[in-house]
Amino acid sequence: MDLIILQQPGKIVIGENCIHQLAEDNLITLSDKILFLVATPLLKTIQPICDGISLSGKKVVIIEYDFAGEPTFNQFESLLNKSEYFQPDCIVGVGGGSVLDCAKLLAAMTGNEQQYSDVIGVGLLRKRMKKLICISTTSGTGSEVSPIAILLNEETEAKSGIVSPALLADAAYIDPALTIGLPPKITAETGMDALCHCIEAYTNKFAHPTVDTYALKGIKLIAENLEKAYSDGSDMEARSALSLGSMYGGLCLGPVNTHGVHCLSYGLGGKYHISHGLANAILLPGVLRFNLDASPDRHAEVAIAMGIKRRENDTETALAGIEFIEHLSGKCGIPGSLSVLGITENDLSGLADIAMNVTRLLKNNPKALTKEDAIEIYKKLI
Ligand SMILES: NC(=O)c1ccc[n+]([C@@H]2O[C@H](COP(=O)([O-])OP(=O)(O)OC[C@H]3O[C@@H](n4cnc5c(N)ncnc54)[C@H](O)[C@@H]3O)[C@@H](O)[C@H]2O)c1
Ligand SMILES: [Fe+2]
Repeated sequence: MDLIILQQPGKIVIGENCIHQLAEDNLITLSDKILFLVATPLLKTIQPICDGISLSGKKVVIIEYDFAGEPTFNQFESLLNKSEYFQPDCIVGVGGGSVLDCAKLLAAMTGNEQQYSDVIGVGLLRKRMKKLICISTTSGTGSEVSPIAILLNEETEAKSGIVSPALLADAAYIDPALTIGLPPKITAETGMDALCHCIEAYTNKFAHPTVDTYALKGIKLIAENLEKAYSDGSDMEARSALSLGSMYGGLCLGPVNTHGVHCLSYGLGGKYHISHGLANAILLPGVLRFNLDASPDRHAEVAIAMGIKRRENDTETALAGIEFIEHLSGKCGIPGSLSVLGITENDLSGLADIAMNVTRLLKNNPKALTKEDAIEIYKKLI
């Protein structure tokens, strides 16, 4: 068996209403100053918890996170200034991937002699300065359990990934009750992002049996429950399954990570501001069709995990799986083409150039993917 290193948050607290355990968490009880970074829709839920913590004599500051789209360098800097001023002992992020990525970087960079611009890339961030709790409120990115944070350089329009074990939270809280208010569109897009994490890990060039277990379980949970949560946001069973599925997707990110789908989506997010989950969802079938002949057996297993019955051969089974994904996306209101989002043939060469620069993910694709291949994949989705 190939060597793999599994690094995960210090603890994962998971379950309906587990957020109400937060005030007793020793990361909080042993801190004097706590900074909460909270997505606007969660403020009402978090305020009473913060009030309770304040009553026990601690200094609590809540920063509302109301930026739209992927967090930019400038936005992060404005948050970092506030955090440097307060000098918290512990940072708590409550929100989707955008909030959690910023909270992770705040905990890393507040009081750090390294500059955030010097830690972009893999393994450059040496240490985190503050304690960190990540509370996810979308069932998507898995950022609460991953060692990754992504910022958008608004000048170059490049998404910049920071990858380091120092970004693994001291605690991840996964409370499906927090996702009940997630609107259907965001439910669909973030759910498809989580599905991508699992599928890209399982069909990855560096797939590994330990991570395969997470990936297959995540694929099954998401395939069975995404449409249910999309059509009835209050379905707690479906929400719980998606929360779990997205956590499994997140656990795939550190040790194995994504491949061509996330790679080709970089430009769609960075340059055209298409949401992360939506871009990945549209690309997923196209990239899987391109990759299929590299490992028909593994692509067939993905289909089986989604509930597809075995066909004549692996390729047929895998193709039925890809059609299932297209059907699921359609039922959840996700468009089947990039042209609906305003992308034209003139944009494709630039998009492919951006993708070719994301070498940390490109190397994971199960077969070589050239600029011409990328253009062909995009073209079929126009
Ligand atoms: N760190 C990682 O491992 C990792 C992995 C994948 C993606 N990402 C990054 O994550 C970001 C995307 O995160 P996301 O897809 O979770 O979206 P998001 O964090 O941008 O949130 C999308 C919207 O949903 C709202 N929202 C969040 N939770 C809600 C709730 N419970 N109820 C109602 N509204 C709610 C937010 O306010 C926001 O308007 C991108 O920047 C992407 O690059 C990070
Ligand atoms: Fe993602």
